[in-house]
Amino acid sequence: MEWGMKNRISKIIRPEDGRCVMLAVDHGYFLGPTEKLENPGRTIKPLLPYADSLMLTRGVLRTSINPSTDVPIVLRVSGGSSIIGEDLSNESITTSIEDAMKLNASCVALSIFVGSKYEHQTLTSLAKLVDEAERFGMPVLAVTAVGKEMTRDHRYLALACRIAAELGAHIIKTYYCDNFQNVVEGCPVPVIIAGGKKLPNEIDALQLAYDAVDHGATGVDMGRNIWQSDHPVAMIKAIRAIIHKNLNVEEAHEIFIKEKELEHQKVLKPT
Ligand code: R5P
Repeated sequence: MEWGMKNRISKIIRPEDGRCVMLAVDHGYFLGPTEKLENPGRTIKPLLPYADSLMLTRGVLRTSINPSTDVPIVLRVSGGSSIIGEDLSNESITTSIEDAMKLNASCVALSIFVGSKYEHQTLTSLAKLVDEAERFGMPVLAVTAVGKEMTRDHRYLALACRIAAELGAHIIKTYYCDNFQNVVEGCPVPVIIAGGKKLPNEIDALQLAYDAVDHGATGVDMGRNIWQSDHPVAMIKAIRAIIHKNLNVEEAHEIFIKEKELEHQKVLKPT
């Protein structure tokens, strides 16, 4: 592997511990102004110091993130469908590798839809993106998107992750599931998990992150369970503690509670 590729990957997966906390804020690319991400800049700013990397589209990057930031960028480069459209899986590459380079991205991300009507299109897009990205030493994150009709079990997710790795993806984002170790074992590149829809209780989201790394995930690419929380900074700090400090769920929850109290005190006594 060339130096540039290794260097970029080391910005996404921290070399100190081989783990990663990626903050996902790319939801608008098919969901529009998602709840609590209506103004992306406002949502993202307080969370940036605690994110190892930020996953988003070029539109939000250009308009809502200060270019002096040193947070590594994972640029979503696939899209072309919407939540109200005919078929969510009908995605193509939407951003060129040249633009990703101009935006100083550390990684590019694309969704694949294994088992869907557009399986072939999204898989060949992944292969094409890997070919183009490798010319520039740019790693590719493949996102195993799951259609409504698909079961999120380990057989399906292991199949999707393995196919993405075989096509050359350098990192895979998938969903946590029972027997998740089978997904990781069958995938020769690092696997990270999406958080999915906001869970009713923050402990459930902490448990999800804990279980994922406990079963071999390299980390998380989490969005809604962080920024849809009433206490997003407390939440990302607690998630970080699980991923980077190997805290258990109870210990991480104590961090969440402590941070929440600090926030409350700041509101009562603004500096
Ligand atoms: C889906 O592919 C989106 O790209 C999100 O990045 C992903 O689902 C992670 O966000 P969340 O934790 O909200 O599911």
